[in-house]
Amino acid sequence: MAKPDSNLEKIDKSTLPRHVAIIMDGNGRWAVNRHLPRVAGHKNGVNSVRAVVEASAQLGIEALTLFAFSSENWQRPKQEVETLMELFVTSIEKEVPQLHKNQIRLQFIGDRGAFKPKLQKKINEAEMLTQENKGLRLNIAANYGGKWDVLQAVKSIAERIEVGELKAEQITTDMINDYICLNELPELDLFIRTGGEQRVSNFLIWQLAYAELYFTDLLWPDFDTQAYTNALESYAGRQRRFGLTGEQAVKQNNA
Ligand code: FPP
Repeated sequence: MAKPDSNLEKIDKSTLPRHVAIIMDGNGRWAVNRHLPRVAGHKNGVNSVRAVVEASAQLGIEALTLFAFSSENWQRPKQEVETLMELFVTSIEKEVPQLHKNQIRLQFIGDRGAFKPKLQKKINEAEMLTQENKGLRLNIAANYGGKWDVLQAVKSIAERIEVGELKAEQITTDMINDYICLNELPELDLFIRTGGEQRVSNFLIWQLAYAELYFTDLLWPDFDTQAYTNALESYAGRQRRFGLTGEQAVKQNNA
C-alpha cells in the first residue's frame, strides 16, 4: 500500500461506517469533457478505486462494495463493454498481488456466468488467493443487479419449499437475508453515488434498507481521498434512528 495518508490519521475512528458501498458514476462524462473516448474515463476511474480501497484499509473500514458493472450495462456500445471487460482482467492482474499483500479479501457478487471464461478464471483465482485474508473485505459487484439478488434468494427458498423442507408461513425477513449477497458482512451503513444523479439504480436494494445516502456531483475519476473523507464526515454527523425517535436512538446508543 502507499504510505499511510496523515490526513486520514486525524479522522475519528469511532464514527466511521463499517460497510460502505459506492456507485462509481461519471466516467463517461469525465472523458467526454476532455474530448477523450469514454473508455479513458473508466481507465482513470481505476485510480479512484485504488484511492478509496487504500483509504478504507488504512481507516479500518470492514467492508467496501463497488458497483463495477450492472446487469443493464451490457446494453452499452459493444466497444465500451469489451474495453470494460479487458479493464477488469488487467486490473485484477495488476492490483491483486498488492491487495493480497495488504490482507484485503476480494469477492465478486453478481452473475459471473455471463463473463468470458478468461475473466471468470481471473475472478475465481483472485477470490481463492485472498480468501483467508483478514483485512478489508472488498466486494466488486459485476453483472450484478439488486433485483437479481432478491430473485436468486427467492429461488433458493422456493427450492426448500419444493422439497418439503419449509412452509411458506415459516419464511422470515431474517431467512431472506441469509440468502442475499453479502449477508455475512456488517450491514450497509453508507451508500455513496458520484456523478450527480440521485438514484439507487438497482444496486443493493435489499441491503440499503437503513443505509445513509450520500450524493456528490464529482465525477468518479475526480473522486479522491479528500472527497471520500468528506463523505465519511457527512456520515459521522448523521443520527441513525432505525425507526426509533431521536431520543430513543440516543438512549440506545448510550446503553
Ligand atoms: C459508470 O460511469 C461507471 C461504470 C459503468 C464502470 C465502472 C468501472 C470502473 C471504475 C473501472 C474499474 C473498476 C474496477 C473494480 C477494476 P458512466 O460510464 O455511466 O459515466 P457517465 O454517466 O458519465 O456516462
